[in-house]
Amino acid sequence: MTDIRTAHTAELDASTLRAARILLADVFEGDMTDEDWEHALGGIHALAWEDGELIGHASVVQRRLLHGGRALRTGYVEGVGVRADRRRRGVGGALMDAIERVVRSAYDLGALGATDEALRLYTAHGWKRWEGPTSALTPGGIVRTEEADGAVYVLPLSAPLDLSGELTCDWREGDVW
Ligand SMILES: CC(C)(COP(=O)(O)OP(=O)(O)OC[C@H]1O[C@@H](n2cnc3c(N)ncnc32)[C@H](O)[C@@H]1OP(=O)(O)O)[C@@H](O)C(=O)NCCC(=O)NCCS
Repeated sequence: MTDIRTAHTAELDASTLRAARILLADVFEGDMTDEDWEHALGGIHALAWEDGELIGHASVVQRRLLHGGRALRTGYVEGVGVRADRRRRGVGGALMDAIERVVRSAYDLGALGATDEALRLYTAHGWKRWEGPTSALTPGGIVRTEEADGAVYVLPLSAPLDLSGELTCDWREGDVW
């Protein structure tokens, strides 16, 4: 029996946050930097528990994405991962359902940087590939992020979007998308 719970970072105790960080380090096989973890904090987490063990995590934080001359309030999804031995049982989908409920009620759109492994999950949930060029608003100005082109997915909501247009994210340390 999987129990999906949501909570703001401020409501999670240190041991739960530590368990989430360990889970994600394991899920991403050591390819999770301090910045990656920091990017997952400060918003709403969806946590999947089984028999008192944390087996899945996703979170959504607020960012601003520039598109069509507007700074869109964006629910940006981070740290989506399910323990390897508990995959393909619907846990990832249930975590996304919980996160999308937050995105739909609080933001102009959803966005995330997708891994190949998660593409089918996201597209089945209505997320669309951003087809246009991506950039970041860095301290030195707008810089193209070619490496992110094709890997950014959005959940269209109230904001008018041209998926072939330009999309620029706000600045942060580590991976900007
Ligand atoms: C991507 C990830 C989170 C998906 O988690 P998951 O728990 O396996 O997700 P789900 O079980 O909801 O869906 C995965 C697949 O299992 C299928 N599935 C769901 N319930 C099922 C069941 N009871 N029986 C059989 N298959 C099932 C889904 O239809 C889906 O199929 P698809 O790949 O053909 O679309 C997981 O693979 C993961 O942690 N990957 C590594 C980290 C990663 O890449 N994260 C994404 C960062 S952007």
